[in-house]
Amino acid sequence: MPSSTTTATNSTTTTHLAKQHQFTAAEEEEEEEIIKLLSQECKELLVSQRERECDVVLATIPKSGTTWLKALAFAIINRQRFPASSSNPHEKNHPLLTSNPHDLVPFIEYEIYANNKIPDLSNLPEPRIFATHIPYHALEESMKKSDTTTKIVYLCRNPFDTLISSWEFLKKLRPESLPQFSFEEALKMYCNGSIGYGPFWEHMLGYWNESLKRPQHVLFLKYEDMKEDIVSNLKELAGFLGFPFTVEEEREGVIEDIAKLCSFEKLKELEINKSGKAAMKFLNNFENNYLFRKAQVGDWVNYFNPSMVQQLSKLMEDKFQGSGLSF
Ligand code: A3P
Repeated sequence: MPSSTTTATNSTTTTHLAKQHQFTAAEEEEEEEIIKLLSQECKELLVSQRERECDVVLATIPKSGTTWLKALAFAIINRQRFPASSSNPHEKNHPLLTSNPHDLVPFIEYEIYANNKIPDLSNLPEPRIFATHIPYHALEESMKKSDTTTKIVYLCRNPFDTLISSWEFLKKLRPESLPQFSFEEALKMYCNGSIGYGPFWEHMLGYWNESLKRPQHVLFLKYEDMKEDIVSNLKELAGFLGFPFTVEEEREGVIEDIAKLCSFEKLKELEINKSGKAAMKFLNNFENNYLFRKAQVGDWVNYFNPSMVQQLSKLMEDKFQGSGLSF
């Protein structure tokens, strides 16, 4: 509400009340103070309401922790409806226990706009949560405007581990009739930028630069940081999404409960993720368990020889130089 309107309304209201009750100057002052406080509270309520009506877009390069980020964002945003605490009797009804995170947060490009259909999004609960692998520059323009109501969270993972994770994943999907896909070949394609959604450095830098320019709209997280300190990262994520944890929630351990529910160890062992096949209907030969491999930071050391390390390190140095983004 603009302040001039607020002031005009306040003084009209006060004059009106004063006429009826013959307020003293001190009472009038007190009345003004109360109205000021109330209008401030209204403003705050409106802001938090607006934040909650934002669309949330979770952006990643494939194999950077998309499944994890989907689970965490869903659990944070829906924690009133679905508490994550194991001591809460409702925890057993949590959708993450019976659905793969990909079934709870749809991809814009594979699901929402698949088959050239105009989607009906009217039934989605607010805030709507979507995911995408689309690079920043190719996102729909309305998401990039300065007054957009879209909040973008980008989860970035060290390129070394992302490549290993992708290669292992693609090998599982590859039909047996095709020749084997060697690691040398995968590294060559990765370094040439010949992968889905474009070169990894452009993808990462696109979101990184935007997070520096518009930090209220784009949050840049790193997989490795989340592994190291999930609690701080979840606090930052929840605050950014407009669903900050209260002091009471922190005291009750809600952050740790969400971290535990969405952890690799927990999700991997759920029946839906061990034997389900439905999460990525758009991929042939897909099984949910392919999404949960090792989830280790630094697994790449088991695959790269020294000259391969040098090749990717040099490329990263060249591409990320001066950007402030490092791994
Ligand atoms: P690895 O292949 O290194 O094990 P995406 O979800 O984008 O497809 O990324 C998959 C990677 O994230 C895999 O890495 C997978 O094991 C890891 N992952 C899946 N669930 C996770 C979780 N809850 N926490 C951390 N990492 C997870």
